Amino acid sequence: MKKIIYSIFIFAATVVACTAPQKTADYEVIPLPVSVQRAGDTFFVLEDGAVISYPEENEKMAKNAQFLVSYAKESAGLDLKAGGPSGQITLELGLDSSNKEAYELTVSDKGVVIRGASEAGVFYGIQTLRKSLPLMDRGTVFLPAVKISDEPRFRYRGMMLDVSRHFFSVEEVKTYIDMLALHNINRLHWHLTDDQGWRIEIKRYPKLTEIGSKRAQTVIGRNSGEYDGIPYGGFYTQEQIREVVAYAAERYVTIVPEVDMPGHMQAVLACYPELGCTGGPYKVREKWGISSDVLCAGNDKTLQFVKDVLEEVVGLFPSEYVHIGGDECLKDEWMRCPKCQNRIRQLGLANDAQHTKEQKLQSWFVADIEHFLEEHGRRLIGWDEILEGDLVAPNATVMAWRDLRYGMTAARLHHDAIMTPSSHVYFDHYQDLDQNEPLAIGGYSSVGRVYNYEPIPSDLEPELRHHILGVQANLWTEYIPTFSHAQYMVLPRMDALCEVQWTPAGTKDYGAFCNRLNKMLHFYDKLGWNYAKHIYKVSADFALDQEMEGIKVSLNTVKGGEIYYTLDGSEPTIKSLRYTAPFVVQDKVVVKAMAVHDGIPQTVMSENLSYDNKISGIELLQEPHRSYRFNGASTLVDGLTGMQNYRTGRWLGFCGKDLEAIIKLKSETEISKVGFNTCVATSDWVFDVRQAIIEVSEDGIHFKKVAEESYPAMTSNDAYVKHYDLLFETVKAQYVKVTLVSEHSIPAFHGGKDHPGFIFVDEISID
Ligand code: ACM
Ligand code: ZN
Repeated sequence: MKKIIYSIFIFAATVVACTAPQKTADYEVIPLPVSVQRAGDTFFVLEDGAVISYPEENEKMAKNAQFLVSYAKESAGLDLKAGGPSGQITLELGLDSSNKEAYELTVSDKGVVIRGASEAGVFYGIQTLRKSLPLMDRGTVFLPAVKISDEPRFRYRGMMLDVSRHFFSVEEVKTYIDMLALHNINRLHWHLTDDQGWRIEIKRYPKLTEIGSKRAQTVIGRNSGEYDGIPYGGFYTQEQIREVVAYAAERYVTIVPEVDMPGHMQAVLACYPELGCTGGPYKVREKWGISSDVLCAGNDKTLQFVKDVLEEVVGLFPSEYVHIGGDECLKDEWMRCPKCQNRIRQLGLANDAQHTKEQKLQSWFVADIEHFLEEHGRRLIGWDEILEGDLVAPNATVMAWRDLRYGMTAARLHHDAIMTPSSHVYFDHYQDLDQNEPLAIGGYSSVGRVYNYEPIPSDLEPELRHHILGVQANLWTEYIPTFSHAQYMVLPRMDALCEVQWTPAGTKDYGAFCNRLNKMLHFYDKLGWNYAKHIYKVSADFALDQEMEGIKVSLNTVKGGEIYYTLDGSEPTIKSLRYTAPFVVQDKVVVKAMAVHDGIPQTVMSENLSYDNKISGIELLQEPHRSYRFNGASTLVDGLTGMQNYRTGRWLGFCGKDLEAIIKLKSETEISKVGFNTCVATSDWVFDVRQAIIEVSEDGIHFKKVAEESYPAMTSNDAYVKHYDLLFETVKAQYVKVTLVSEHSIPAFHGGKDHPGFIFVDEISID
């Protein structure tokens, strides 16, 4: 009888074993490791009960082993066991590498070994193993034999979170840290204070949280003038801060705290008005944008306040770096304030060709704070405005956000720099141009644009490149009221970011990245993390081919999708042309493309292409602004029309200069019309054209003017796209010169009065 029961048990166990899924691991993870070498065709079978061994006296390694236990459960439903002298999975130190975050992950038929150059390296090896595991609820995993050797490209790999404009709870911040850890990101830049709310308890100044953490109401939309009437607030106690710092540290994330000064301090002034130039009254700011109410730099009490606050901050955050902001400090009050002007006189500061005396006052302020931080064994980071006024803080690290040029300027002054350009890695910017996108602050950074970002400027001298410490993306939260929305803005752009931060230069392949992304998106589903799904649509790349013989169309979607398209304006269906490889169009066509994932059709992508086969080349006689150069001159005749967002790459921007282009036609042609578009956004100092001149030539040397038009200066704020046509008597020409004069002196109604404005131009047509 006993024997029969035993046999039934064996039979049942076999049935269970056979029905449990057996899946194979896939080492094509994000970020892509430096080297993945298959080691023969053996494999290791990872099953429930497998033991993870590690140097037991090492607490960090014990924690690493616990992470692996929980990750394996979460991904593949495996029950691993941490501890024991020898196991099927070995975590060890001792990898010989100068890069302390390096690791090797080896799988043989005997088991798995993760060897790190430090505990952090082991942690990243664990992340790679975690992401290699199949997603299932239980089963057995076949790990093909492999040797993965990996290390990060940059040592500073950051993400910023603004908790002032909207507040996120301790649990939400911890989830954000989990998101960083999954992507091998090692810095959380925590933007803790701003005009709209102070979020960190400071014992010596209790009003900062009693008053400064609360705003009475919040503006609706983009500074509409209407308010919601709902009080808003929140802050972290010092105990909570310590808890978050420890949580991050276990995941090899260092929190870089930011206390933004001397601008972005209106919430402080609401608590301590005597620290402002006018004495107030002030309130915690209820709308977005830049406040002219800043700390008074002429008041000794202000400097004492800042140092008292920083003293508590360095007590809470062990980070070597402390961020002191420094951005967008308007100098209006300083110019009027007797105390500030007195300080300027005492210091002997004077205007010169590069900087105003008030900019130099800010430089002095930053240098004083740097001195204080260095006395406390810390290093200062500031936004790139700290370069204004001759950066006199000798060891400051510059966070280049307005333009990558500032990263180069910093490096050339022998300062370290962290690249975080708003043109590529502001995750509060739009990620898609669909009309139905939730309101964002502006801008445009698709997953593809983030992915293709190269942080080392090609014109930075090789011997200075070591000053570029790394890359960070920022999440400003004016238009991000919930954590779920924050995840939507961050994922999957964080996947693209982490490859910029981690993966070696020159190994990028966007199509391959999209394939790898598929599994990450499923992982987010499993983790319950919200993410943007644009990547499931078709992402299209259009490029004039070298000889301008047509527009090359490349279509992408994440792995597993099929793409169908039409070129006649009709809606694509699964009966339409199936996309297999890039193709060239040589006419005016409407490309409509649709991806189908798991049988589900995604939103159709549509683009009007108007290839002009008359044109053989274009040359610019004046340089576009370096932030708005994109693909250069050909942008203006690439058959793609820009829409109401001048950062998409479809517009060229000029500032203090004019658009001056010579377009060459393939042969002498009769023409009578030149058209162009402008994009205007006065809130960003982008103005309309003031004068247009068309000249023609047969030889490209001698030009004759055929049309000229002047346009009035703008008289009020506006944002639009406008088409212009200049008509003239039919002439024969092979060269057409187009000059579009920008606004060289912004009119008085605008805050930029007398400064040059930008002009944005796209698609020049010749008929
Ligand atoms: C910034 O975006 N104001 C640094
Ligand atoms: Zn002042």
